[in-house]
Amino acid sequence: MQVAFFSTHSYDKEYFDRLNDEKLHQITYFEAPLNRDTANLTKGFDAICIFVNDKLDSETIEKIFINGVKLVVLRCAGFNNVDLNAVAGRNMKVLRVPSYSPQAVAEHAVALILTLNRKTHKAYNRIRESNFSLEKLVGFNLSGKTVGVIGTGQIGIMFCNIMMGFGCRIVAHDLYESDELKEKGIVYKPLPELLHESDIISLHCPLTPETMHLISKNAIDQMKKGVMLINTSRGAVINTPDVIEALADEKIGYLGIDVYEQEANLFFRDLSESIIRDDVITRLLTFPNVLITAHQGFFTKEALEEITMTTLQNLSDFENGVKSLNEVEIK
Ligand code: NAI
Repeated sequence: MQVAFFSTHSYDKEYFDRLNDEKLHQITYFEAPLNRDTANLTKGFDAICIFVNDKLDSETIEKIFINGVKLVVLRCAGFNNVDLNAVAGRNMKVLRVPSYSPQAVAEHAVALILTLNRKTHKAYNRIRESNFSLEKLVGFNLSGKTVGVIGTGQIGIMFCNIMMGFGCRIVAHDLYESDELKEKGIVYKPLPELLHESDIISLHCPLTPETMHLISKNAIDQMKKGVMLINTSRGAVINTPDVIEALADEKIGYLGIDVYEQEANLFFRDLSESIIRDDVITRLLTFPNVLITAHQGFFTKEALEEITMTTLQNLSDFENGVKSLNEVEIK
């Protein structure tokens, strides 16, 4: 099958070229993201393969459909960037990689917590300049702290397991409770109670109309002073201007984010010689207690391999008319 890959980087090419060794699919790699401006590139392709910041709004979907695209495969789990209403009624399918390595994202959330807390990034830089002072590097013990986990699906469960190992008390919130976690003694609570009790809050829910700006002023007001907020889910789950205000007021004591609402304009690119015109992220970068990574939670060898193998299988299943469990339901 002829497939156009969008938003590709060297690592995408490396993994897909290696695992598509029998050349079952003819892949054309585009570095450009897919959106209404680049939709014309899809002419002549049966399928397109996209990532988190490609934007399939209704106009783009109409254009790619007219170009003959019958299949959209996502190299990721979340599909909030695809307008499913626009896909409905067209002869077009959407397949994703529902699970590739929940451990990768959960472990990255823990990396953000440990770095923010024990300031290893600052210690590293200091010591490279022969500054062996401990001034301002004091952290806190994780053991005994209360960690609030919003969203206890695959990643949330892994994250809970790790944090339990640190001796933390876990309070969870989800629309559906996990029996596995309850058997381990994890307590589910309504959101206001979780916000009120937690020393650390970690977001592991998808971006939906209900979770859009879930963490805004009203939620922040209910949190403990000095709380640590971690977001590895989707940027728009938090209202960034409200979070900035809370950082300035010292209500939020630490912020670790791997995702950012306006990340499509920034992430996955080297902008080190460019003028950043996004005043929200530049303001965030002025806080000493903010740690930002550029959507790298998924970025492990194991996850890349799994994403590649599942994506190739998704393409083959579609081509062979096999009904796949990875198909996104279109109502
Ligand atoms: P999942 O579908 O297994 O779990 C999501 C959980 O959130 C479910 O248990 C669901 O019931 C819950 N949820 C949905 N709406 C909720 C609400 N309003 N309040 C509380 N809980 C709610 O998904 P998984 O695999 O655990 O991934 C979670 C999210 O992590 C993804 O949707 C994606 O946005 C993000 N992600 C980030 C990555 C990164 O590289 N930073 C990589 C992969 C996923």
